[in-house]
Formats: sequence, structure tokens, C-alpha cells
Amino acid sequence: MRVLVLTGAGVSAESGIPTFRGKDGYWRNLDPTRLATPEAFARDPQLVWDWYRERRQRIRNAQPNAAHEAIARLAHHAKDFLLVTQNVDDLHARAGMPAQKMVQIHGDIFVTRCSRCDWRTELRDADIHNIRGHIGLAGACPSADGNEQEDVEHGIPTCRKCRALMRPGVVWFGEQLPWNELQRVEDFLDGGACEVVIVAGTTATFGYIIDWALQGSPECLRGELIEVNPEETPLSRFATRLVREPAAIALPRIVNEMIRS
Ligand code: APR
Repeated sequence: MRVLVLTGAGVSAESGIPTFRGKDGYWRNLDPTRLATPEAFARDPQLVWDWYRERRQRIRNAQPNAAHEAIARLAHHAKDFLLVTQNVDDLHARAGMPAQKMVQIHGDIFVTRCSRCDWRTELRDADIHNIRGHIGLAGACPSADGNEQEDVEHGIPTCRKCRALMRPGVVWFGEQLPWNELQRVEDFLDGGACEVVIVAGTTATFGYIIDWALQGSPECLRGELIEVNPEETPLSRFATRLVREPAAIALPRIVNEMIRS
């Protein structure tokens, strides 16, 4: 079976990670133009870094849920499989999703990259100790025990190569999608029609999510398009199956059915 899965923030909601536009979503209370644009970062990099660090910590304290685990299981069973997630958290990966079967199209919150050159680092817990030697820190102040690692979590990191400010490795509003990741999605779609497309936990706000779900256009849709979302979205009218349930409830059942079939 050839399977494409598209996920959004709703899949991580049951792990305690807020969505963006749902109830108590980030954009219900916060202004994205002050936190998630290149202009916002230029205007107030400390404010932006504080918000992304708070989100990193919340994700570190979270666990993958049954939806993440079910999708990882499907990835292992399907002949051809690709997960395209808009989520910048690492819950799909921690649930066992192989990196080669996943595209994080909006980036990875644990990546820190230079806002000017191509220097980048990945900030996993274990790496906090390693990162110390990699980047210089603007406004660094030694912590009580003189150990710099705290600065990584508080200051505004600067690039070791060009001294420009480092920024979270995510795609902000108004920015291009990462070319390599885009190519991987296109290559998979060019590889032939999918028997099953699952779209879970997204408002499908961006046109490319709708295009990929329809594999180009409604006429191209050969197989099943399953939407898992308690609410209606712009994709609902194209779906061959609507599952108005939370992802962690619905996806284990759907995946078991597919694996058994
Ligand atoms: N199970 C399934 N779906 C859920 C659940 C759940 N437990 N809880 C909420 N949802 C659904 C909501 O009904 C909503 O349709 O998840 C969707 C979340 O939508 P958004 O908050 O808009 O998140 P997403 O679609 O991922 O946003 C896309 O926008 O803000 C940018 O870059 C950010 O990647 C993000 C992109």
C-alpha cells in the first residue's frame, strides 16, 4: 500500500502541546506578527527566543501519544510511506517515526540556525552540554557555578562562523518552505498515486497541504482520503471518510484496520 499522512498541531494536542487556532490555541492569545516572522525577530530577538524556549521546554516535558505511535506503526507496515508534518515538535520522531519517512515541512524547533549563514546546530537535551563549544553567546553571564550551559537557554545565541544572531530552525510566516524537504514531498508524490491519504489534526490553512492531500487536484484523488479532526476543515468536502474524533482515539483503530486488511 502507498500511504501519505499529513499532520498538524491537533495530533500533539493530546500530549499537552497547544494548537495554534483551536481552543486555547497560541494564536488565540498571542500575536504571530510579534513572535513568528523574520521582522518580529529583527525587532525583538529576546522576546522571540523566550517564547521558543518556553515551547521547547513544554515539548521536552511532553510524551508522544497513541496517534504518534499509530502513525509510526503504519510507517513500518506500509510499502511506500511518507509523513509530512507541520509540527516542529519531536513527538513523531520520539514515537519511532524513521527520519527518512518523515518531512518536517515547517522545520524543527530543536534546531538553532544562523539568521545569516548556513551554520546550524541541533539542541537536544544531551546536546546542551556539547553546544557550549560551538557558538559564542551575546550578553553571556556566567551562572552560579560558572558553567556556561545556562546561557544557551537564556541569552541570544550568536553564530560561531559569522557572529550574526542564531534563530530557531522553524519556518516563519512569510518565509519559503525548505527546498530539500519540498523536493522530498514532490518526489514521493511523483512516485505514484496513494491508496490512502490520512490528514489528521490540521486546519489545512495552507494551500500546499490541500494540494498534497489531493495529490495535486481532486481529479487526481484515486484512493481514500481520511480526515481525522473533531472539526470541519477546507479539506472535509474532498474526504472519502470523515472521522470527527480526537486523533489519539481514532488513529490506532484506523491503523489497525489498515494493517489487518
Ligand atoms: N485530534 C485531532 N485533531 C484535533 C485535536 C485532536 N485531539 N485537537 C484539535 N484538533 C484539530 C483542530 O480542530 C484544528 O482543526 O487540529 C487543528 C489544529 O489546527 P491549527 O491550530 O491551525 O494547527 P495547524 O493546522 O497545524 O497549523 C498549521 O500554522 O501557525 C502555523 O506553522 C504553524 O504549523 C502551523 C501551521
